[in-house]
Amino acid sequence: MQKPYVHGYNERETTRLQDQAATLVELLHADTTYPAGSRVLEAGCGVGAQTIALSQHSPEALITSVDVSAVSLAEAVRRATAAGVSNVQFEQADIFALPYAPGSFDHIFVCFVLEHLPQPVEALQALRKHLRPGGTITVIEGDHGSAYFYPESEAAHTAIQGLVALQQQAGGNAMIGRALYPLLSDAGYHAVCVSPRMVYVDASRPALVEGSPGAPLQR
Ligand SMILES: C[S@@+](CC[C@H](N)C(=O)[O-])C[C@H]1O[C@@H](n2cnc3c(N)ncnc32)[C@H](O)[C@@H]1O
Repeated sequence: MQKPYVHGYNERETTRLQDQAATLVELLHADTTYPAGSRVLEAGCGVGAQTIALSQHSPEALITSVDVSAVSLAEAVRRATAAGVSNVQFEQADIFALPYAPGSFDHIFVCFVLEHLPQPVEALQALRKHLRPGGTITVIEGDHGSAYFYPESEAAHTAIQGLVALQQQAGGNAMIGRALYPLLSDAGYHAVCVSPRMVYVDASRPALVEGSPGAPLQR
């Protein structure tokens, strides 16, 4: 049986995911553009926090966004409708049992999902079956083990370590960002390219201070 999602599915988590996505939209999405007519699978879309940016950056792509959580999907549909998104279809589905034919998608987009899964390589393999030959996958994950503070803060490191431990107990890996290259290679992907994306925050960037996930990212 799958262990519970470490952040839960409550309203506070919905707000956290939305703040995180809004803060990071340029950092994460600036180079994610899919051609008109291409079929894109967003796996683990949650409350749709990345979906709207995906849609806006690729307005003529045909995006299918899936998640196992019906509660999160309902919120994703609500938000996408409010944002006027018209090129996204939402479906409830499990990454390990997707209801699509092999090779159905040109591109796959996965953001902050593998870090919660006990079997990330198997998840990547399951997704690969649904990519057409020559298709691409974009995977964005955090790495909570690579946060630095000035002045140094023991309390901040303790808080992060608490999350790392809880996520590990739930079967995940909050430091998975640094492992993306071997994970993708082990899952059979070729031409893997990892691009570390640092989130730097100081008092001159109040929006980032408010919405910062507090950890560097790997893409
Ligand atoms: C941290 S949220 C990220 C949501 C979104 N990608 C974002 O960046 O805001 C992780 C999501 O993965 C979903 N998830 C976990 N295991 C899954 C699985 N096996 N199949 C589909 N979705 C899954 C969870 O329900 C949750 O909504």
